[in-house]
Amino acid sequence: MSHQLSVWRAAQLLGVARGVLQQQVRNGALALNDGLVSTDALLQLYPDAQLEASGLLERVAQIRDEAFGRRVRERMLPSQEVLAQRLFAQSQELADVRKHLQRYHALVIALQKRTRELVAERPGDAAWRELEQQLTQGLAQALATESVDMLEVMDDMLKIMTAQVTVRPSGHQFSVEGHANLLQSGLHSGLRLNYGCGNGSCGMCKVRVISGEVVKTQHFDYPLSEAEKAQGYTLMCCHTAASSELTLEMLEASGPQDIPEQQIVAQVRAVSELAPDTRLLHLQTPRTHRLRFLAGQLVLLGWTLPGRGDAHTTYPIASCPCDDRNLLFFIARDESDELARHLFAGDIQPGVAVTVLGPTGEFVLADGHRPLVFAACDAGFAPIKSLIEHALSLDVAPVLSLFWLATRSDGHFSSNQCRAWSEALDQFEYELVSHADVTVGARQIAQAMRADLFDIDCDFYLAGPSEFISTLHDELRAAGVAAAQIFTQVL
Ligand code: FES
Repeated sequence: MSHQLSVWRAAQLLGVARGVLQQQVRNGALALNDGLVSTDALLQLYPDAQLEASGLLERVAQIRDEAFGRRVRERMLPSQEVLAQRLFAQSQELADVRKHLQRYHALVIALQKRTRELVAERPGDAAWRELEQQLTQGLAQALATESVDMLEVMDDMLKIMTAQVTVRPSGHQFSVEGHANLLQSGLHSGLRLNYGCGNGSCGMCKVRVISGEVVKTQHFDYPLSEAEKAQGYTLMCCHTAASSELTLEMLEASGPQDIPEQQIVAQVRAVSELAPDTRLLHLQTPRTHRLRFLAGQLVLLGWTLPGRGDAHTTYPIASCPCDDRNLLFFIARDESDELARHLFAGDIQPGVAVTVLGPTGEFVLADGHRPLVFAACDAGFAPIKSLIEHALSLDVAPVLSLFWLATRSDGHFSSNQCRAWSEALDQFEYELVSHADVTVGARQIAQAMRADLFDIDCDFYLAGPSEFISTLHDELRAAGVAAAQIFTQVL
């Protein structure tokens, strides 16, 4: 019998991006019934779907392999307490199903016996004979050994290893793996959650549990009132999912206007050379004071150097909001940029305190399911990288394309990252373009896009110097792309 799954769960089981399945739903290749897809329909589309394909078997094998030891088990598996709760809930469900099956079986046997008696009493009555035959055949069919529906088995197993969380009212979903708490898991899935300290003191991550169970993962100081506890409120940063399915009610940020300005004193963790004229600046915030931001946003970095006074510069964050403690920045050599000057002069070393003020900027991912096209010029790759990582966490875009123009010799300073995405993800493709003239390079990118993408309904995200943005924007508009589908960040 076919089993019904959410698109989110089906994508996890098949090991494909959720956006790919959603695209198939929109194309009519996959039918959706009450928001669910059937395992029969999935197996028609993916006849070769095997446990191995989802990576689940591989993960189980890794867990069994002692060489990976405790570290793998901790990353993949929830705590023993959580596992026990999920196994208990599943055993209960199984016992219920078994009890019902036994009752149905007894009922069918009793009906079969009675119809046989009626057939014997009224041998000329064709209707009773037909009913008796139908019952006998149906029972034989039900008792025959059928091949096991592997997707159903995988789904049951996944329920124990990872919990599925549904957010109300948005309907967003995310999974909770290993020892992660609800807040970490939601952020890793790209959700714009409301939170502050991340350690149980501020209460900003308070949510209401509508169904399912949670379990505490760490001590918290924030005092939940008795009324809040009675209504099911909990703190996401200090709890994880105890049941395999959980529904939470919470508010999510709808855009940059919902993210408060923050001021954090972070420390330089590392400065590394990406290319002769490009450095990676890695800042780390205190564990108890992380930066809440949206992918694509900027911050003002301020620092004081002994005897040289204060300096500050605005930079786009190159990392994903899912790692709110480790902030990355790409700094290109530029004598007119104070931060770049100090960095390349070796004045900014690990341990130096840097004040982070922000975030600012509206260059964030819009809601929607269109294919995403990103275009960057030189260090404009920073906000684009953050957006791509966010889009990959959200897993809703069916296709992501990146066009990267380098106007200087080391302009493609992170091409390894692009290659890694392209090798790991079927839905990601990229093209590197080099030209010393920004306007000519932007036109070359427009040409490459025209060859590939202009017949598709996409959202375009452009980041770089103003000539790059204006040239590409004009080319896109001239090709008929709606202004509302072009998002820009001038750097
Ligand atoms: S984020 Fe502050 S209590 Fe959870």
